[in-house]
Amino acid sequence: MTQLRIAQMLRAQKRHISFHTPGHKRAGWDITELSYSDDLSDPTGVLLAAQQDAAAILGADVSLFLTDGSTCGVYAMLFALKKRGCGRVCVPTYAHKSVFHACEALGLVPVLLAQETVCGIPRQPRAEEMEKGLAAADALLLTSPDYYGFFAPLPEAKALCAAAGKPLLVDGAHGAHLHGTPFYAGAFADLWVDGVHKSLPALTQGAVLSANAAWAQAAREGADFFRTSSPSYPILASVEYAVKYPENARIERLSVAAKRALGALANDDWTKIVLPFGEYASAAQAYFEAHGVYPEFNDGQYLMFYLSPATRARELKKLVRLARRLPHGEVLTQGVTSGMVGGNTVEVPLMQAVGRVCARACGIVPPCIPLIAAGEVVTRQKAERLARARHTFGLHGGNITVYGE
Ligand SMILES: Cc1ncc(COP(=O)(O)O)c(C=O)c1O
Repeated sequence: MTQLRIAQMLRAQKRHISFHTPGHKRAGWDITELSYSDDLSDPTGVLLAAQQDAAAILGADVSLFLTDGSTCGVYAMLFALKKRGCGRVCVPTYAHKSVFHACEALGLVPVLLAQETVCGIPRQPRAEEMEKGLAAADALLLTSPDYYGFFAPLPEAKALCAAAGKPLLVDGAHGAHLHGTPFYAGAFADLWVDGVHKSLPALTQGAVLSANAAWAQAAREGADFFRTSSPSYPILASVEYAVKYPENARIERLSVAAKRALGALANDDWTKIVLPFGEYASAAQAYFEAHGVYPEFNDGQYLMFYLSPATRARELKKLVRLARRLPHGEVLTQGVTSGMVGGNTVEVPLMQAVGRVCARACGIVPPCIPLIAAGEVVTRQKAERLARARHTFGLHGGNITVYGE
């Protein structure tokens, strides 16, 4: 199944005069939905065939291409839940901000799953926590893998959901490369999102929403609700290309070896090399960048390097060479203390919030997961990490929202 249907259609276009959008009028691959290019919201031609190919590869009953990122897929999944009568959804405390935003926008109540933090990084929820959370909710949503490369306990989650007769959703924004492996979300979930632009070679914002038969119609409605009505054909073509991209066993092996050699975080996913630099994280980032090597993010303690099947061996070797010259710093565990929630909320300067209870999750961008979750007591360490970060979410003009005293 290596035929690239969308790219073929785009290549075969005749030159024409554009009296259609987009306004640049230069046609090329950036066209709109025309008589020959199908329609993403009601596909009957090339887009339908490409999505059906993708569904066969991903093991889904339906796969829907998205040109608006996994964010759109998360909204669509949660819309599908709401549409089918769910009101409460069990989600990891350190889920991506799109999960919390979608819950807020859709009026779904998030039931938070506790996650242990080890050496400053949230770990996947344990089965006991999932069981407890699921008992108080209508559905379970997990992130797998997470941004730090840990797989969620999907077999346990599937068994719990099946026993409770509740759906399992997976935010696989970082897991598209896993299709065909036993760790892939699609082997377990009723509804799942693949962020193909993150771990496979697709253009930024390329993603796929997939569902099993029981959730197919609700997924379609969700996608229809949140997807743009002007999908980008270059992105669509790249999504098809990425889903059909061959695995790269060599780079996978090299990544595993590099992680071991560098003392990287012992995570599960070969596409994410997470190096602990502690207090030297910013200096290390500057060093890498001065040598033309850019990490995915610096969370204040760790640098994360994102690989894909398109990563070249010589690029990885350069990363290893540079990393070997740098000292590892001490990473702080930064335990979490919960405080009293409720009452009025106020915005205060970050450093003045130390010791108070956070009322609105905030964190570093990326990874866009809470560094300080709502209900957590703000510590000096975390406030300082946020203050040092280049980009953040959940803060307003340097102020954090806390409960009033
Ligand atoms: C776990 C997770 N879910 C969802 C998203 C949203 O993905 P996108 O940026 O493709 O909208 C991200 C983005 O970083 C993420 O890390």
